[in-house]
Amino acid sequence: MSNDGSFLLRTRGLSRRFGGLLAVSDLNLDIRKGEILGLIGPNGAGKSTTFNLISGFIKPSAGKLEIFGRECTGWSPTKISRMGLVRTFQHSSYMRTMTVRDNILLGTVHGMARASQTERKLRVEETADILGVTPYLESLAGTLPHGIQRLVSIAIAFAARPKLLCLDEPLTGLNQTEVVSTLDVFRAIRREFDCTILLVEHNMKAVMSVCDRLVVLHHGQQLATGTPAEIRTNEHVIAAYLGKRHDK
Ligand SMILES: Nc1ncnc2c1ncn2[C@@H]1O[C@H](COP(=O)(O)OP(=O)(O)O)[C@@H](O)[C@H]1O
Ligand SMILES: [Mg+2]
Repeated sequence: MSNDGSFLLRTRGLSRRFGGLLAVSDLNLDIRKGEILGLIGPNGAGKSTTFNLISGFIKPSAGKLEIFGRECTGWSPTKISRMGLVRTFQHSSYMRTMTVRDNILLGTVHGMARASQTERKLRVEETADILGVTPYLESLAGTLPHGIQRLVSIAIAFAARPKLLCLDEPLTGLNQTEVVSTLDVFRAIRREFDCTILLVEHNMKAVMSVCDRLVVLHHGQQLATGTPAEIRTNEHVIAAYLGKRHDK
C-alpha cells in the first residue's frame, strides 16, 4: 500500500470469518487524515466486527491493516492504541461503581504513560469540560442518566487524545438535544485536536449532517463509498439499506 501520509488507516482485503459466516469480506477501507467518516449499514452488516479488526480486538482471517503508514496486521489492542487509535464499544463501557473522574482517569493510561498526577488531573478536567460532563465528575458513573453515560464513554476514549477516534453507535438512546450537542462535540474535537473520527451510527440524519464521507457495508461487503449527498441518492444503497430512513 502506498501512502503519502494523507491516510491514517487503510485496510486491503480485510476479512473475518466466524465459522461459516463471512462477517467482513475483502474490505478496502481508507480513512483520510482529518475527516469524519461514517460507517453505516443494516444490523449484522459487519460494522462492529470492522471496529474489532482495526482496533486489534479480533484478528483478521485474511487481509492487511495499515495505521499511520505502518503495517499493524495482527497487532494487540494495546499496541494499536499506543499508535493513537482508540475506540468505544457499542454498549457503553465504564466502571459503573467508580466516579466519572476515575473513569476518565483510566482513559489517560494510553498516551500519558510518563505524565505526572497533576498533568493527568488536568487532562481529566479538560476532557470532562469538552464533553460537558464536568458537573458529574464526582458522581458514580452507573447512577447517571443514559445520555450522560454515553458522553462518559466518549470522554474515556478521548482522554488519551487519540489521532483516530472510533465511535460505535455513540448516539444510541440520546434525545434530540443531546444528539445535536454531541455532534458539536465531534466537530470541536476534530477542529481543535486534529482528531480524525470514524463513526458507526444508525441515526441517519446525524450521520448525514456530521460526516464528510460515508462507507456503506452490507453483508460484510462494501456496497458504496461517497459523500452524504452521493450516498443518499445511490440506488444500491437505497435498495439495500436506506429506503426512506434518511428522511427521519
Ligand atoms: N464473535 C462472533 N462470533 C460469531 N459471529 C459473530 C461474532 N461477532 C459478530 N458475529 C456475526 O457477524 C455478523 C456481523 O456482526 P457485527 O459486526 O456485530 O454487525 P453490525 O455491528 O454491523 O451490526 C453478524 O451476523 C454477527 O452475528
Ligand atoms: Mg454493531
